[in-house]
Amino acid sequence: MKKLRSQEWFGRKDRDGFLYRSWMKNQGYPADLFDGRPVIGICNTFSELTPCNSHFREIADWVKRGVWEAGGFPLEFPVMSLGETILRPTAMMFRNLASMDVEECIRGYPMDGVVLLMGCDKTTPSLLMGAASCGLPTIGVSGGPMLSGKFQGHDLGSGTGLWQMSEKVRSGQMNEQEFFEAESCMHRSKGHCMTMGTASTMACMVEALGMSLPGNAAIPAVDARRYTLAQLSGRRIVQMVRDDLGIGRILTREAFFNAIRANAAIGGSTNAVIHLIALAGRIGVPLALDDMDRIGSHLPCLVDLQPSGTHLMEDFFYAGGLPVVLRELGEAGVLDRGALTVNGQSIWTNVAEAPCWNREVIRKFADPFKPNAGIAVLRGNLAPDGAIIKPSAASAHLLRHRGRAVVFSSIEDFRERINHESLDIDETCVMVLQNCGPRGYPGMAEVGNMPLPPKMLRKGVTDMVRVSDARMSGTAYGTVVLHASPEAAAGGPLAFARTGDIISLDVPNRSLRLEVDDATLAARKAQWSPPPLPKRGYKRLYVQHVLQADKGADMDFLAGRSGAAVDRDTH
Ligand code: FES
Repeated sequence: MKKLRSQEWFGRKDRDGFLYRSWMKNQGYPADLFDGRPVIGICNTFSELTPCNSHFREIADWVKRGVWEAGGFPLEFPVMSLGETILRPTAMMFRNLASMDVEECIRGYPMDGVVLLMGCDKTTPSLLMGAASCGLPTIGVSGGPMLSGKFQGHDLGSGTGLWQMSEKVRSGQMNEQEFFEAESCMHRSKGHCMTMGTASTMACMVEALGMSLPGNAAIPAVDARRYTLAQLSGRRIVQMVRDDLGIGRILTREAFFNAIRANAAIGGSTNAVIHLIALAGRIGVPLALDDMDRIGSHLPCLVDLQPSGTHLMEDFFYAGGLPVVLRELGEAGVLDRGALTVNGQSIWTNVAEAPCWNREVIRKFADPFKPNAGIAVLRGNLAPDGAIIKPSAASAHLLRHRGRAVVFSSIEDFRERINHESLDIDETCVMVLQNCGPRGYPGMAEVGNMPLPPKMLRKGVTDMVRVSDARMSGTAYGTVVLHASPEAAAGGPLAFARTGDIISLDVPNRSLRLEVDDATLAARKAQWSPPPLPKRGYKRLYVQHVLQADKGADMDFLAGRSGAAVDRDTH
């Protein structure tokens, strides 16, 4: 085994070696731990303000067991934790900041390999992105989904159930007392959202990319097997260091293609698009927005899970989890079978024999839950650089639609006007939301799935076409066109849509058009001026440097990787 990088700190026989070891010994570590064994960083996103990750200290303890058993030296370190439900203005604004924290910690501290503890939505991409820019051997351990929500004798899914119930309250079908009773019933165990929202989707992406041991995505957070997997991951990362199996050998173009296919097959979140592109940008794999459509859109959704279907992650786990889905893809000839995974085996070796225990939850490729379920990329004069839609979560009758635009210039404008009975809107209209993209919000909040006007809900309307430069929660659903690029705040054409314009959406032909002539659009553009820059701090840095959604909304200066070398000593 080659000399490990941790020895550049701990292996020195000089004043600085004393410095590096002696202060560490204040924690009680004996001298032989600094003898050249693999030092494993455990990158922990534990926080009581990130409820989805609140059990991560326990998971870290199980990872440590595995590292000790395999002869490594585990050292846990905290990084910025992004609590999706609580952090304002939106956790997405801090994904890139957290990734910088992760990257600089991995590079700056003496570790030879790293275990990423990830759960809530943005904690997964931020850790993967930071680790990718360093290149060390890396293994992912997800925190696992919560147990299924249960309310009034039925399953109640994270997010999805909330969107459904709040529409019922707004239309008068549910009273407020029942609504608030559901609060304690939806989230009743530790873990992340148990629908196929962004957290579960990203956990599946980790597994499909080959970045975790098989089965990682679906084991419930409170199932003992979650701790077993953590322990085995601890053992495995030590061997990965010995084998010099860096993250760059796992995150190949083939691995990303497998992830895109898996995202279609699980009916995964639209957020995966933006995170996969950003991650590919860090590792140096060319991946374009159109690859999402080309590789995934024709594939079926095999998994009947909310928000596209009815079941929840617990059911998915009992049915066999992601290995079954990957096996179906492999047998259908749409998996890059040779892609290497962190256990040193190909992805196909890992899943070829995966048994399915419930065909209601995971369907066969030949008898899918929904056809053509991957992300579709739309283009046209309303989104020259692309916009996306998740057809599996949309209404079939709206996938081709032409309607009058009702434009909201900001989320505040939307909230101010949407409940007014006088709002001139009907079910044929197209709701448009501007200035909610990466720069505009800032942080590209999950507000693209605008709630419908109450008068439409009372009429029994359950879906309308919505268009924005925002994102949408992975737990949401509807005929919702998202990520329009360039965004309105960057002078994209979305900024020039006006109430009364006609918008045509044609998903089968991948088109999104504003039926307004070029001269009129140019005249509107001449009247436009960009929003002022935030005055100071991270928000200013973010707005100045964030890339557009079609490029993954990373910072322009973060694309690429710099490896793990640091050319200067501390003293
Ligand atoms: Fe944390 Fe959904 S809010 S995973």
